[in-house]
Amino acid sequence: MIDSQLKAQIDPARLPEHVAIIMDGNGRWAKQQGHLRVFGHKHGVRAVRSAIETAAELGIGYLTLYAFSTENWNRPQLEINALMELLVNTIEKETPTFMLNGIRLQTIGNTSQLPSNCQKTLEETVEKTKGNNRMTLILALSYSGRWDIIEAVRKIGQRVQQGELSPQDIDESVLNSALNTSAYPNPDLLIRTSGEQRISNFLLWEIAYSEIHFTPVLWPDFGVEDFCNALLDFQSRERRFGKTGEQIQTP
Ligand code: FPP
Repeated sequence: MIDSQLKAQIDPARLPEHVAIIMDGNGRWAKQQGHLRVFGHKHGVRAVRSAIETAAELGIGYLTLYAFSTENWNRPQLEINALMELLVNTIEKETPTFMLNGIRLQTIGNTSQLPSNCQKTLEETVEKTKGNNRMTLILALSYSGRWDIIEAVRKIGQRVQQGELSPQDIDESVLNSALNTSAYPNPDLLIRTSGEQRISNFLLWEIAYSEIHFTPVLWPDFGVEDFCNALLDFQSRERRFGKTGEQIQTP
């Protein structure tokens, strides 16, 4: 539940349609408490739940969470196993909430690389929630922006080779529709926690005009108030999409 005073500060007419989050800082959070990294991931789940609830309560249409990157496969096997287990357990536990709140689960990324029990849980939940239409929750798993662009270029190359498409007809919409994210609007707001100020191979094509909010808060501590502050920061920005400020004010 969002505090009513905080909620009143957010303009419901100017909410981002799509928020994407780079959830960072679980390892440092655990270290600060004198624990192993996995302890941070476990507590990160609480922040995942809170972000989903906050987005759904406010009426944000799409929430994308960077849960596991292509590069994360290079982490110690024990940590990878723990993350996969957390993912399966959380999805299974949260499915009733998804159903109750009209949340549709989707994934982007090379999910065929995930352990088979993980793939099964994801497929079942995607199927079970496919009719929900209040919010779409997109989990980026075994995902990277470059991976998706390369996959898209391969698909387009095949269409060219088969004579379906000529190279001159390749435009933004052709590339867009070949991406894993083709069914979703581009993120209006990208949030990264933990004080790091980089993109880390996330949604490279899609964030061309996203507003970016960096916060020093470590992911396990990222709560409702932090999410609302990111939205207030977003609402204070003037989105120009390459135009001048005057053009935006008098369209
Ligand atoms: C980054 O922190 C976080 C991750 C790589 C994993 C995020 C996963 C969760 C929050 C839990 C499970 C997710 C779902 C969707 C149920 P880090 O480990 O890179 O932190 P550090 O930079 O401090 O080392």
